[in-house]
Amino acid sequence: MKICVAVFFGGKSTEHEISCISANQVIHALDPEKYDVLPVYISKDNDLYTGEKLFDLANYSSFIADPSSVLDKIMIFKDGNAVKMRYLRNMFKKDRQIDVAFPVVHGTNVEDGSLAGYLQMLDLPYTSCDVLGGSLGQDKAAMKDIFKAEGIPMVNFFVVFGSDFEERSDEYLAQAKKLSFPLIAKPANLGSSIGIEVIRTQKEFKEKINECLKYDFKVIVEEMVKDLKEVNIAVMGNDEEVKVSAIEEVTNGFLDFDKKYQSGGGKKGAKAAGSKAPSKGMASTARKVPADVTAKQKTTIEETAVKAFKALNSYGCVRIDFMIDRKTGKVYCNEINTIPGSLAFYLWKEVGISFEEECDMLISYALQRYAKRMKKTYSFSTNILDNYKKK
Ligand SMILES: Nc1ncnc2c1ncn2[C@@H]1O[C@H](COP(=O)(O)OP(=O)(O)O)[C@@H](O)[C@H]1O
Ligand SMILES: [Mg+2]
Repeated sequence: MKICVAVFFGGKSTEHEISCISANQVIHALDPEKYDVLPVYISKDNDLYTGEKLFDLANYSSFIADPSSVLDKIMIFKDGNAVKMRYLRNMFKKDRQIDVAFPVVHGTNVEDGSLAGYLQMLDLPYTSCDVLGGSLGQDKAAMKDIFKAEGIPMVNFFVVFGSDFEERSDEYLAQAKKLSFPLIAKPANLGSSIGIEVIRTQKEFKEKINECLKYDFKVIVEEMVKDLKEVNIAVMGNDEEVKVSAIEEVTNGFLDFDKKYQSGGGKKGAKAAGSKAPSKGMASTARKVPADVTAKQKTTIEETAVKAFKALNSYGCVRIDFMIDRKTGKVYCNEINTIPGSLAFYLWKEVGISFEEECDMLISYALQRYAKRMKKTYSFSTNILDNYKKK
């Protein structure tokens, strides 16, 4: 019997549309001989839908604003030891059993551990990081604290809390003065370069931090790498084995949202909506693979990436992004993406792992983790409640 793989995507996140592109790539990479693919679309209102239309990206722009008109609303529930999907508006369609979940979501309210928590409550095996891994990967402040504890190289930084910024702004400015300008300020929980500000002088500090605070409760302030080379590496594995991919060099400079996903130019989403073939998504970013790095830098990046993967409780396929100062050659770890765009398939391809094989590996890791978890003890027999019986 084929394994039913539910590919989850969308969600209440600024990266909703990018997730649709990445998920569509996964849907088409899963081997139909081995898997029954069930696309599960999480709308911007957090409702769940499925439907044939989800197999073709060309349909997406027509339903994102109002999915209920085109797609089937569903619920997912536990039924004994099985997990099932039920059509909510069509009683004649039969329930379907789901064997494994394949989250392809980016950003807040999904990738940050929220979806992992939902899947864990359902007792469903899933291919991505667990709650802790997902949430550490989303919150740049928590992530950096762990990197610091592990001695992972980073640019100097500090965290501004929105709750006390007004009353303590002088103290925060004093912290900023200890770093060398220009500085970068970024909301702790966003992605895709949204809300990032460059602080060129001390005078700009307050205004730029307030800009970032429009997006988040916490802001990371850090030294800017002026002569920047950006390189990324993917890491795939579980608690036993960890593999590293080729290293890519991102060649279109400061990646803002449009540049990152629309390197062909044009309107946002035009590529996704306009063509029948799966859009290239993150795979279309201008890049050089392998990156132009020295042998020493390559080793540092690979070793640091594995260390970061383990330190952040990662699982499945993640991408770890680095910044290199071209002047000094120093390598700094920037961030982790726990479910990277396009699942970084273009980096695995370079080390001989096809997208199909990558998906197979992720599903097998998920099933192994689930089997291991089932062997752990999560209940404890006790008579403590007897003390509360009516005497
Ligand atoms: N300290 C820094 N120095 C120079 N450029 C930076 C720095 N931090 C971020 N950037 C630029 O901003 C982009 C987005 O920042 P990043 O920390 O990766 O956040 P996001 O989660 O939005 O991708 C990076 O890819 C890089 O181009
Ligand atoms: Mg980034």
